[in-house]
Amino acid sequence: MKILLLGSGGREHALAWKIAQSPKLTQLFIAPGNPGTAQVGTNLPFAADNFTAMKQAVLENCIDLVLVGPEDPLVKGVVDFFAADAAISHIPVVGPDKVGAQLEGSKDFSKQFMFRHNIPTAGYLSVTANNLDEGIAFLTSLTAPYVLKADGLAAGKGVLILNDLDETISELKSMLDGKFGDASKTVVIEEFLSGIECSVFVITDGKNYQILPEAKDYKRIGEGDKGLNTGGMGAVSPVAFATPEFMQKVEDRIIRPTVEGLYSEGINYTGFIFFGLIKVNGEPVTIEYNARMGDPETEVVMLRLKSDLVDLLEGVAQKNLNTRTVEIDERAAVTVMLVSGGYPEEYEKGKEISGLDRVENSIVFHAGTATKDGKIVTNGGRVIAVSSYGANKDEALAQSFKNSRIINYDKKYFRSDIGFDL
Ligand code: AMP
Ligand code: GLY
Repeated sequence: MKILLLGSGGREHALAWKIAQSPKLTQLFIAPGNPGTAQVGTNLPFAADNFTAMKQAVLENCIDLVLVGPEDPLVKGVVDFFAADAAISHIPVVGPDKVGAQLEGSKDFSKQFMFRHNIPTAGYLSVTANNLDEGIAFLTSLTAPYVLKADGLAAGKGVLILNDLDETISELKSMLDGKFGDASKTVVIEEFLSGIECSVFVITDGKNYQILPEAKDYKRIGEGDKGLNTGGMGAVSPVAFATPEFMQKVEDRIIRPTVEGLYSEGINYTGFIFFGLIKVNGEPVTIEYNARMGDPETEVVMLRLKSDLVDLLEGVAQKNLNTRTVEIDERAAVTVMLVSGGYPEEYEKGKEISGLDRVENSIVFHAGTATKDGKIVTNGGRVIAVSSYGANKDEALAQSFKNSRIINYDKKYFRSDIGFDL
């Protein structure tokens, strides 16, 4: 099978690494990819949301299946684009269509969906300029902290959690006034939930699903979970508190109702569903959906997936995922993200990376790197994910930390407390 993978981050390198191990694969292309994906496939030089270039590449290279890494092409309708064009409509694109991607693309859509299907989630009210007074009354009825979410995609910055009511009301007004552009023309106000979070992933063909290993990611920049939110500074799998009893509740109350809900509403959803969960008094509650795999969670989930990912993708395309199996590695897997100094605010790019050839017993996934004059240089906030196996998470972490010190570049930073609370 010839596969085209869309995207260019650490998640895509991890997916490419896994796909490249499949006996079913004949050729792997990644668009646009990065220097890491170039080690396991052929990078094609167009952006993941350039549908015109994609169509040409798919036809030229006789692609059999397209896998979408990031949310952007999904929310922009890549699945619908293929379906509408007779020249390429026979090629399966693994990912939800534009409506399905609203699970991630619109917080208001996903909250309404969860309420329609009795999926546990925080109480909420959606507010626009037309019902601001109702929004203020709802906020006043809650106790601090207050949660405000931009309805649309806001590059991971659209969620505010604030302690002061007056400040929250003024932030609400500024969001409605366009603080996050059109993404915050609608704001979802939510009840605050207190608990420990984890990410659960499934792959679905629209009717059947298979559950992948769960993971916990570390979103804050600072040790002890302090400071600004990032795309994710590291991840651990398995998650100790996600016991079999807890996971059974997740499947019964959240996963199955979600897949059945999508199916019953006639929404064309294939691919991954990422459930952002929080454990509140022992019970799972849904914080959010994403229409894709997590990053950096993929950099641990792919290590623990023993089964052939291409076989699962084929099961999605042929709508017989129930005939495929998911086998999970007993070992722990962790990843530590090396970032550029200053991230998630201003940072510099183009720093030469050394030590990659001296890494032993870890798997290096490129996230934000580039090739310049034959050298690998930094090219983003999150630069490299250092993933390792271990008999337990502490062994795996020791390995990743060791290699995180060996890899070097100017102003390198990583959190040396990943997994501290598990
Ligand atoms: P989201 O983009 O919806 O996942 O929100 C980003 C982060 O904000 C989550 O990972 C949580 O840490 C936090 N968060 C979101 N919603 C809530 C909530 N209702 N209660 C507490 N924390 C929340
Ligand atoms: N690691 C969180 C995300 O991918 O959204």
